[in-house]
Amino acid sequence: MEQQPAVIRVGDLDFPARKVWMRTYGCQMNYHDSERILSHLGKLNFTATDKQEDADLVLFNTCAVRDLANLKFYSHLGETSHIKKDVVIAAGGCIAQTEGKDLVKKYKQLDFAFGTDVIDNIGEMVYRAYAGDRKFSVTTWDRSEDYSIETKITHGTPQAFVNIIKGCDKFCSYCIVPFTRGREKSRRLEEVVKDVQRLVEFSGIQEVTLLGQNVNSYGKDNGESLAQLLGELQKINGLELIRYTTSHPYDVSDELVDAHAKLNKLANHLHLPVQSGSNTVLQRMLREYTSEHYLQLVAKMRAANPEMVITTDIIAGFPNETEEEHQDTIKLLKAARFDFIYAYTYSPRKGTKSARMTDVLTDEIRSRRLQEIMDLQEDIQKEVRQQMEGKTYRVLVIEKGSYKGQTKWNGRTSCNRLVHFTPSEGDVTDYLWHWVDVEITSTTAFSCQAKFVRDHGKKRTHA
Ligand code: SAH
Ligand code: SF4
Ligand code: F3S
Repeated sequence: MEQQPAVIRVGDLDFPARKVWMRTYGCQMNYHDSERILSHLGKLNFTATDKQEDADLVLFNTCAVRDLANLKFYSHLGETSHIKKDVVIAAGGCIAQTEGKDLVKKYKQLDFAFGTDVIDNIGEMVYRAYAGDRKFSVTTWDRSEDYSIETKITHGTPQAFVNIIKGCDKFCSYCIVPFTRGREKSRRLEEVVKDVQRLVEFSGIQEVTLLGQNVNSYGKDNGESLAQLLGELQKINGLELIRYTTSHPYDVSDELVDAHAKLNKLANHLHLPVQSGSNTVLQRMLREYTSEHYLQLVAKMRAANPEMVITTDIIAGFPNETEEEHQDTIKLLKAARFDFIYAYTYSPRKGTKSARMTDVLTDEIRSRRLQEIMDLQEDIQKEVRQQMEGKTYRVLVIEKGSYKGQTKWNGRTSCNRLVHFTPSEGDVTDYLWHWVDVEITSTTAFSCQAKFVRDHGKKRTHA
């Protein structure tokens, strides 16, 4: 790692070596934004610390998708009220985009707020704060026609997040994201391919996750498509694995299904949020598909690639959801047999259509329905995972752990399952970031244990 200079001069100011502490809430896009922010701050002589008490700059990258995410941030921000005056405190992300001005007014310790479309200007804003200008909020939208960036990575691993589209035009009736992330805008295919080539060649990246709120809309504005992009990325030598998230079922094209049959670098995993199994609820959510269409898509994907693992998101207790409508979700879960689900109770978001609906459901009903969904899914998951036993999977080792004093390595399969394996006796190899074949020995609904089979080293073509 490069030595941090004692002091650098930027414009009219000296920037001594300083530390930034950052907390990120929400989705992978927000986590990647935080990575971009850290990369920009490096130019102002900041390095990251995980101890808030050591920090000269405290940053929150917020999420507004559910009440719980909001509450966590407000509580953590509240805890910073005693921090000494010379520490700069700022909030960015989705809450800041819509509430930035009010936050700065309400919380005396908050020096500035910045929205989701100005994160590449974080350097200028931090400069401004250190120049003595505090209590401002920047939440402007980038009005340029195109979306052009270069991916920033700071973590030194072979995995990278690559934004390919930002914003969302879908306006599902419950969702705040179109208000916090603005309209859809895609990067040009050629730019993304060059960016990934650069990451592979110069930064040793082997696995990319293409990011967007709705990646299946990718390229619509430029006459390009996700399937096309995946086909081009497949050709990059040294790139082993390609993931993408999140997909909206409405936009899954036959070409994309076909890509899963043809492209061997494409992960055997698709996160395809369904939200509900009831057609009437899906209509009220403005999701633009039916449960039959969704199940057909799942079947097509599995026919294209029998190893395909599908995960989803469910909202329990959408306004006025009847017991029958809830049972339709239960039926869909039984039919689709997901590998994993993210399920939450409905949370009204100010400014969205569904927040204005009169609603007869109580929190109790919502929680009971969520519990039923999770209990059923646990049973399904147990059976789905059991079928892995005895099979061999290639994993990318991402972590070293230990269990009862014994070394355990954690790896992730192409189908996105976390697998734990113990090295053979006397084997002291450092497997971190190796591609390793393992055989699954036992499973539960939430974990997979495996034994070591063979090591492919740090970089081999993904089979
Ligand atoms: N773009 C993705 C979802 C992004 S938001 C898609 O269209 O599927 C991530 C998840 O948060 C959603 O899939 C949904 O399940 C959940 N979510 C969004 N708004 C919510 C709300 N108001 N209450 C509860 N869950 C919500
Ligand atoms: Fe939200 Fe719907 Fe857009 Fe997903 S597609 S981000 S759920 S509005
Ligand atoms: Fe949350 Fe914003 Fe992502 S609301 S889920 S951080 S896009």
